[in-house]
Amino acid sequence: MQLHNLKHNEQKVSFSEAVKLGIGKDQGLFFPPQIEPLSQVDDLLDLDFVSRSQKILRHLIGDEIADLEEIVEDAFSFPLKLQQAKNNIYALELFHGPTLAFKDFGARFLARVLKAVKDDGHLTILTATSGDTGAAVADAFYKQDGIDVVVLFPKGKISKLQQKMIDTLGSNIRAVEINGTFDMCQDLVKTAFLDEPFRQAVGLNSANSINIARLLAQVCYYFEAIAQLDKAKRDDVVFCVPCGNFGNICAGLIAKALGLKCNFIVATNANDTVPRYLHTGKWEPKDTIACMSNAMDISRPNNWPRVEALFKMQGWDLSSLKYGSVSDDITAKTMQELKDDYILEPHAAVAYRVLKDNLQEGQTGIFLGTAHSAKFKGDVDRILDIDLPLPKAIADKINLPSLSVTLNNDYDALKAYMTKELLK
Ligand SMILES: Cc1ncc(COP(=O)(O)O)c(C=O)c1O
Repeated sequence: MQLHNLKHNEQKVSFSEAVKLGIGKDQGLFFPPQIEPLSQVDDLLDLDFVSRSQKILRHLIGDEIADLEEIVEDAFSFPLKLQQAKNNIYALELFHGPTLAFKDFGARFLARVLKAVKDDGHLTILTATSGDTGAAVADAFYKQDGIDVVVLFPKGKISKLQQKMIDTLGSNIRAVEINGTFDMCQDLVKTAFLDEPFRQAVGLNSANSINIARLLAQVCYYFEAIAQLDKAKRDDVVFCVPCGNFGNICAGLIAKALGLKCNFIVATNANDTVPRYLHTGKWEPKDTIACMSNAMDISRPNNWPRVEALFKMQGWDLSSLKYGSVSDDITAKTMQELKDDYILEPHAAVAYRVLKDNLQEGQTGIFLGTAHSAKFKGDVDRILDIDLPLPKAIADKINLPSLSVTLNNDYDALKAYMTKELLK
């Protein structure tokens, strides 16, 4: 697979190089210059999820990775379910993996691909998290030979449940709580990447959501959604995706470019840079607003250039892309409206609302369930006046001891800690 840098066309890399580099020159994103459609999509839809995903990813990536089939089988080892929510609207539940979020698909695939393509040396994944990513990355790389993981998170600013999913693993996973904010954690990561001798010494890699491997893994579940639908309902399917950084919807649009028959709707919370852009043609990010659907609190979505590039490449009209943004107030009302049929957490509620408001007669709507409701238990319990049971993946961790260390927001302190831990 050949990819180029969307900012510097002349930078061309293989899939393996793109996975190792993460991002290109000038922070440009790697993307394929064209996407060859799959032949016989209907036949593919008859296969099981793993067999079909092996074929899709082999088609996209080519023969660079000999063990791709084994990697896919090992990474996608948990179920995903299409559940009817109301009438012709379905939830694609992507939260039945080990950390109860859609990120398990991308993180588990990336972890295995990175192991296959990495050079002989040792790798250190350094990542900052405001909650879910850290858990998915930590779990995906747990006990992988030759790879250490250091997850930074802001002390006291992620939920206890989220923290337990990061800092109870031990082994090659190190959790560091920083006396500071998420932005400070992110700045520490950036500083480490600019420290070239240190970067080389510990073999730094970021495993963030910009990595093309994470995106390609996510393409597969759009096919599975349609495969789980009755054939009679497959003619006019509309996916509504709760968007933050726009990686998930970009993966869906790649599925469409591969020949999956479907359309898309963008759903955001009050951080509506893209809906406003689609309405006015002006790119005017505002300050980020804190919403209940906090994983979507992003006003400069870093995957948007890929979405635009794809529309251009396919000759699709951006003005045909439907969109909507939803306030916290409407999010809560939507959760209550559906309570008797389906329990929505805030991210899914945003997507359900926009889908319901845009779906036309005869269409089948699918919204993406990106996280388990229990991960947002506080809001869900309060708004719906219920007491959600904790799923086993969380309940099992709640009484395990936390293994994190605490550091000040000080790069030298982080470097000293990592040097002591990783270069002993
Ligand atoms: C629960 C949840 N929903 C939706 C999103 C948004 O996905 P994307 O950033 O791919 O648009 C995220 C991203 O972090 C998330 O964690």
